[in-house]
Amino acid sequence: MDQLKSLTLDEIAKAETIEALEAVRVKALGKKGALTEEMKKLGGMAPDERKAFGARINEVKAVLEAALSERKGLLENAAIDARLVAEKIDITLPCRPEAEGRIHPISQTIDEVTAIFAEMGFSVAEGPDIEDDFHNFTALNFPPDHPARQMHDTFFFDEHAPGERLLLRTHTSPVQVRTMLNQKPPIRVIIPGRTFRCDSDMTHTPMFHQVEGLLIDETTHFGHLKGCLIDFVRAFFEVDDVPVRFRPSFFPFTEPSAEVDIGCSREGGELRIGRGAGWLEILGCGMVHPNVLKNCGIDPDKYQGFAFGMGVERLAMLKYGIPDLRTFFDGDLRWLKHYGFAPQDVPSLAGGLAR
Ligand code: PHE
Repeated sequence: MDQLKSLTLDEIAKAETIEALEAVRVKALGKKGALTEEMKKLGGMAPDERKAFGARINEVKAVLEAALSERKGLLENAAIDARLVAEKIDITLPCRPEAEGRIHPISQTIDEVTAIFAEMGFSVAEGPDIEDDFHNFTALNFPPDHPARQMHDTFFFDEHAPGERLLLRTHTSPVQVRTMLNQKPPIRVIIPGRTFRCDSDMTHTPMFHQVEGLLIDETTHFGHLKGCLIDFVRAFFEVDDVPVRFRPSFFPFTEPSAEVDIGCSREGGELRIGRGAGWLEILGCGMVHPNVLKNCGIDPDKYQGFAFGMGVERLAMLKYGIPDLRTFFDGDLRWLKHYGFAPQDVPSLAGGLAR
């Protein structure tokens, strides 16, 4: 019995895993274990002998069980410790490798403008870069001899049929026409896209971007147009009290028409949006001309609404202090690294437009 006890205690102390320890337990205390075999001998013993031997067995059994349970506790704790070490995560590490790519300020600005108008209930519409005379000019109430139709403003393609030639759209307004021809009022869309004019100098590139807006229903008036654009300008520039001025202007497709300026200061060569003596033009707008509604199959006696158009590069330059228009299209990675935006920071009014 002593031998069994010391042998088993020794084995318990040497068991390195829960499984090994279980094997030791089975060998000593299992159904066919050494101690169990000893117990079987009790049946053939005289009562006195049985009493003494039984007590001895129980004593050894208690010692072994205590040793087993203590060792088991130790091994279990060691297993947990090992697992904690193996599964340790360094929460100070960045969750993903930092993205190399950057969102171009043009895309960022379009996303920001879209987020603001989406909040006001506008959806996004798009149209083709290559247009015809009808959508780009005629339907928009341009008189046949309007200077914008001349060669020096518009990129025309060669004639594809006598007297018919396609062109690169000179503004996003043709998508107003496409939307009204395809959709019944009420209409609420914004239209981001590329536009083209045959012009290239410090402040003009032959390709640039606009965001157009169009709202048609039965009751919307110029007051709504003003409110909508003032809200937009303040949300976009993230300046609550930026002064906004509506200046009478002319577009063939709106009547009345206005250009919108925002207040700015130019102290020490630095342009600041907000209070100041200066004004900066940022968009054109007006009430959709009845002729345009008619051209698009909408009854001008029943429906009315407003439209606006703004230059995306202009907005981006003003908001992000980008001094030179032409750098937008240089494809210079150093410029993009400096002025670009992190891909994960999707603009939203709740989460912030730009970080
Ligand atoms: N299409 C005009 C432009 O390119 C802008 C504009 C759009 C003005 C809609 C009024 C209404 O200058």
